[in-house]
Parts: sequence; structure tokens; C-alpha cells
Amino acid sequence: MSTEKYSTLAVVGSQWGDEGKGKITDYFAQKADFVVRWAGGDNAGHTIVIDGVKYKLSLVPSGIFNQNSINVIGTGCVINLRKLITEIKYLKEHGINCQNLRISNRAHLIFPYHMKIDELQEEYRQDQKIGTTKKGIGPCYQDKAERIGIRVGDLFDPQNFYTQLERNLKFKNEVLTKIFGAEPFSAQEIYDEYLGLFAEIKELVTDTSFLIDNAIKAEKKVLFEGAQGVMLDLDHGTYPFVTSSNPSAASIPTGVGIAPRYINNVIGIVKAYNTRVGTGAFPSEIFGETADYIREVGKEYGTVSGRPRRIGWFDAVLMKHSLRTSGYTSMAIMLLDVLTTIEEIKICVGYQYNGQTIDYIPSTIKEYEKCEPVWITMPGWKEDITNVTAFSQLPLNAQQYLNKLAEIVGVTISLFSVGPDRKQTILLDEEIF
Ligand code: GDP
Ligand code: IMO
Ligand code: MG
Repeated sequence: MSTEKYSTLAVVGSQWGDEGKGKITDYFAQKADFVVRWAGGDNAGHTIVIDGVKYKLSLVPSGIFNQNSINVIGTGCVINLRKLITEIKYLKEHGINCQNLRISNRAHLIFPYHMKIDELQEEYRQDQKIGTTKKGIGPCYQDKAERIGIRVGDLFDPQNFYTQLERNLKFKNEVLTKIFGAEPFSAQEIYDEYLGLFAEIKELVTDTSFLIDNAIKAEKKVLFEGAQGVMLDLDHGTYPFVTSSNPSAASIPTGVGIAPRYINNVIGIVKAYNTRVGTGAFPSEIFGETADYIREVGKEYGTVSGRPRRIGWFDAVLMKHSLRTSGYTSMAIMLLDVLTTIEEIKICVGYQYNGQTIDYIPSTIKEYEKCEPVWITMPGWKEDITNVTAFSQLPLNAQQYLNKLAEIVGVTISLFSVGPDRKQTILLDEEIF
């Protein structure tokens, strides 16, 4: 039996995304040799604030600001080449070099037809919309599962790439024109554009599984950056109102191409309350004055779509589900400052379902939609906490709120965050990475 420990840390979104994964990845990336994304695509929107300067990333890992670390877009990701190149240029304009970026040759490519199909399928769903980001994520992963996907490495063989593209478009154009009444796509146009885009990044494409496997064996510090959150996981989230990949920690080995035993520490990134973009059940959702207040103070508008995020209280049932399926060794509590001045803070500790109190998430969305929250209430605090640098500097009620979260989830808090800036991060456990 192996008792070896590796210098790895996984940053996992524990709720419905936008918990602050980008901020925490950037924070730990200061010490990392490698930073790896394992799932999702440019549906992700990660905000990083360094000394008051705000950066927004969707595809490039949030570790890129440590120019001494290698940043990897792993095999489990789906890549829109247009977006990737725009992001590389955006970073360059801000003085950030992407020579230390590596792209998996096995990652799947998003094409313009995926985005179009995403948009048309959403329209087709009418009142059953998922509320996708329309970035072509679902249709791209669909092609992957159907075994007709085109991968980054395929572009090294232009002739075969053209054959794959032509084959896929033959069918997709039938669907686009005959079912949706939309315009067909031209294989030649996509071919020309994509080969042009590929030329800009081909030096960065490699077998990233070898890269990370070797790095871990050489005792390098490797950070895994999650996108989305466990409740959006295709298997463990609120299906069908989920994304098409597996944001949970369990999919890191597959999405990176390494052994499961290399994943040591998993930090669950947890908003001090709850948000959700897109449709689907949300038992601890709140409306009215407090929700509007949190939305404005927390700037809860989608990074990618600008959509207002739905707001709710912290949900302990959800967190226990998230903990079971992702195995957090500790939690980072984010956006604690947003709750300042709220008199009474609620925590959802159970659900009322069919006249009974339950402490788990039912498997079907129809059942989950009927769950009503069971609350406990905690007193809030009024003092500004945005300059706090230690747990002991927090007002007593804020300390008690954090202690309560740790107690009901059953996981220690290794970090808390009191503002968007890298500086506004209080690490409670130096050992985790
Ligand atoms: P991600 O998708 O998990 O990386 O999260 P997003 O970047 O989409 O959303 C988190 C938002 O909260 C961003 O605007 C961050 O700048 C901001 N943020 C992160 N941590 C804190 C915090 O502790 N306090 C406040 N006020 N904002 C934070
Ligand atoms: P980050 O990494 C929040 C949501 C969409 C929609 C559902 C499916 O910033 O936390 P998709 O386009 O993936 O098919 O949409 O998933 N969603 C996110 N919500 N944060 C994200 O990423 C998200 N990525 C996808 O809003 O409800
Ligand atoms: Mg986000």
C-alpha cells in the first residue's frame, strides 16, 4: 500500500460555480510549478484581482500570472481556438506572456457549428431551457461521446482534419438546415480559419499527461484548477440543469491523464452564501431586498454572460452532497465580506419533502424542485472586514458563522476571503500546499 504524499492541491467549485476558484487558483499559483485545468471550456469565467487590477479568464488557467509556472489546458477541456487566441492576446496586452502555456493534444475542439447548435437547441427547448452559456460546450462534449469529436492534435494532419470536418458537417448541416431552418457551415471556411488559428499555438501543444505525470513524480508542486462547480456536474449535479463535463474532483485523473493516487489535498471553494446562473432547482434561493443587496455588493453578475446571478443562503445539504462526491480535505470560504451589515444570516440545514425532513439531494429534478429549506438563523455583524488579516480580527459573529459552517459540513476551513484582491485572502493552514 502506498503512503506517499505528493505536492498537489485541487481547487474545486463546491456549489453552482463562481465561488471564487480563479482567485484561489491565482493565490496558490504563486507557489506552484504547474497549474492544470481538467474540465470545461470558455463557459467558465474566472476573475482575478491583483493589486486592484482585474483580469478575466475563461480558458487560460488562472496560474498564468506566476510567469514561472507552467499552465496547462488538460485533456478533459474543450477548446474554442478563437477564444483561446483572443485570451492570449488580451494577456499579452497586459504584459503577461503565454509562452508557459501548454495545451493537451487530446483536448476536443469547439467549432462554430457547436455554438450555433447550442443556441438553436436552447431556443428549441422553449420553457425547458437549461440557460447554457451558448459557447457550444454541450454539443462539443456530445461529439466527444459520440466519437466524432475533432481534437487539438488532429490539426497536425490537415488532410485528415479536412476529412473529419467534411464528414461531421455532412450530417450537422442536414440538422441545421432541415430541422432548425438555419444556414449551413462551409467545411472549407472552417478549415482555413482553424489552420490559421492553430499556427499561432501549435508550439504549445503537447501530450500533457506525460508532462504532469513526470512533474508529480519529480515532486513538483502541481495545482489543479476547477471550472464550474459540483452542482453543475453531469453525474452529480442537478441533472439535467448541469454542464456537460465533470467539475467534481473525481474527474481530475481522467481530465489530466494521471493516477488518482496523486490527488492529495482537495480544497472546496465555497461561497459564504449561494448563487446560481441558469435555470434549475435552488432550494435555498431568496428574493427581495436581501437578495438584491447581496447581488449588488457581491457584484453577482455572470463573468461570461453578464446575467444576474440568482441568490440564496448557504446550503449545508448541498455542501454535504458536494463533500461526498468530491472529498474536500478543507474548505475556502469566499466573499464573507458581502454578508457584512446583514442582520440575520440564514443557513439551510435540511429540506422539507413530502412532509418529511430530509438531509440529502433527491436524484430527480422533479423531487428536488419540491424541496423546501429548513433554516437556522445566525446573527450578522456590522464591522467592515475587508482589511482583516487574521481570524481573530473578525467580529465575533463572523467567527461564529465560519465555525458553524465548518461544524455542519464537517470539514475544516483552511482559508477565508474578505474581498476580490489577492491580498484579501487569509490562509489558516500553511501546510495545504
Ligand atoms: P470563479 O468562476 O469560481 O472563478 O468565480 P468568478 O470569478 O466567476 O466569481 C467570483 C467573483 O467574486 C469575482 O468577481 C471575484 O472577483 C469576486 N470575489 C472573489 N472572492 C471575493 C471575496 O472574498 N469578496 C468579494 N467581495 N468578492 C470576491
Ligand atoms: P465558472 O468556472 C457558473 C452553467 C450555465 C448553465 C449550465 C450549462 O465560472 O464557475 P453550459 O454552457 O456549460 O452548457 O451551461 O451551466 N455554467 C456555469 N455557471 N459558473 C460557471 O463556470 C459555469 N459554466 C457553466 O449557466 O446553467
Ligand atoms: Mg465564474
